[in-house]
Amino acid sequence: MSDILTLIKDRRSVRAPFDPEHPVAMQDVQQILEAARWSPTAHNMQNFEIVVVDDKELLKKLGEIKSPPSEVFIRENFEQLSFSEEELLKKKVGILGTMFPAAWRTPGADFAEVARNSESSFLKDTMKGCPLVMIVIYDARKRAPASEGDVLGFISLGCAMENMWLTAQSLGIGLQIMSVFSGSVVEKEVKRVLGITEYMEIAFASRLGYSVSTGFKYVRVRRDVEDFTHHNRFGTKLK
Ligand SMILES: Cc1cc2nc3c(=O)[nH]c(=O)nc-3n(C[C@H](O)[C@H](O)[C@H](O)COP(=O)(O)O)c2cc1C
Repeated sequence: MSDILTLIKDRRSVRAPFDPEHPVAMQDVQQILEAARWSPTAHNMQNFEIVVVDDKELLKKLGEIKSPPSEVFIRENFEQLSFSEEELLKKKVGILGTMFPAAWRTPGADFAEVARNSESSFLKDTMKGCPLVMIVIYDARKRAPASEGDVLGFISLGCAMENMWLTAQSLGIGLQIMSVFSGSVVEKEVKRVLGITEYMEIAFASRLGYSVSTGFKYVRVRRDVEDFTHHNRFGTKLK
């Protein structure tokens, strides 16, 4: 029991650059795929396909895809930010604002204007030298039976994400989710580069590899169990 909890607690987002010359061994890739294979999914639909990209030319092509700034992202991202480590430790949810450009974390800013004035970034800014990307895609024409908005289908994809992430962690492989791949403009280009069929959509993409040591560390926070647990009735604490 303590082993699985330790693994769960040790899993983290690795945002440091990866060493492009340190590949992820194919047998490790196979283990991560095996973990995805055994994910629980609604109705056992196994509603995912996984594109593993380690071809240098293709990684370069992906890196050249432009990601235009999005007002919605900047605005909603702002709501999750803390402006100091102390604030984040107190709030116990969200992320640290310093991960984003200064203009994106100015209280009271006109985010439509901020978006207009922000430069597009490139996927390579997020991929940061990674030797391998795994892209989990799903068939957008299907849904889990009677699941409005296919919530159950998306939960299933999340189960695959966690299985893959924990396995990577157990193998000592760094992983970062890159939601930028799923934005509509970027997604279209990624699908074009990789020849992904039109009706398949990107659930999530992840970069895998081994960090070049930068000494980069960030504070990880979580609510306490009692903060989100209710006993029998909503609002009653579990003692
Ligand atoms: C659905 C989903 C999307 C995420 N997208 C990103 C992302 O685009 N970039 C990133 O650096 N982390 C992303 N993350 C990681 C979260 O920010 C991270 O899990 C959270 O801040 C907790 O940090 P930890 O993973 O180090 O425990 C995502 C996580 C999930 C589950």
